Amino acid sequence: MGGVGRVYDVSTGKSFYGPGGPYAMFAGKDTSRALAKMSKNNDDISPSLVDLSNKEIGVLNDWENKFQAKYPVVARVLN
Ligand code: HEM
Repeated sequence: MGGVGRVYDVSTGKSFYGPGGPYAMFAGKDTSRALAKMSKNNDDISPSLVDLSNKEIGVLNDWENKFQAKYPVVARVLN
C-alpha cells in the first residue's frame, strides 16, 4: 500500500487510456509505482512505494503535478 490514492477522471485522455491506447493498462488502477519507475510492466502497476529511490519519488511527484493540472480529481482511495 501507500500509493498516492487520487482518482482522476481521464475521460479527456481517452487516446492514452482508452481501449487500444498506449497506457490502457493504467486505467482503473493505482499506478503510483509504475509512474515512479517509468514502467508499463504489470508487476509495477501497484500502489506500493516500497523501495523506490528518491529519484523515483521525484518522478512520481512530477507525474502528480502533470495530472493535477490536466485532470479533475473525482475520488480518493481511503485504504
Ligand atoms: C519510448 C518510450 C515512450 C515514448 C516515446 C512516450 C511518448 C509519450 C508522449 C509523446 C506522450 C504525450 C506527452 C504530452 O501529451 O505532453 C506521453 C505521455 C505519457 N506517457 Fe509516455 N512514452 C514512452 C514511455 C512511457 C512509459 C514507459 C511510461 C510509463 C509510466 C509512460 C507513461 C506516460 C503517461 C502516463 C503519459 C501521460 C498521458 C496523459 O497526459 O494523460 N510513457 N508519452
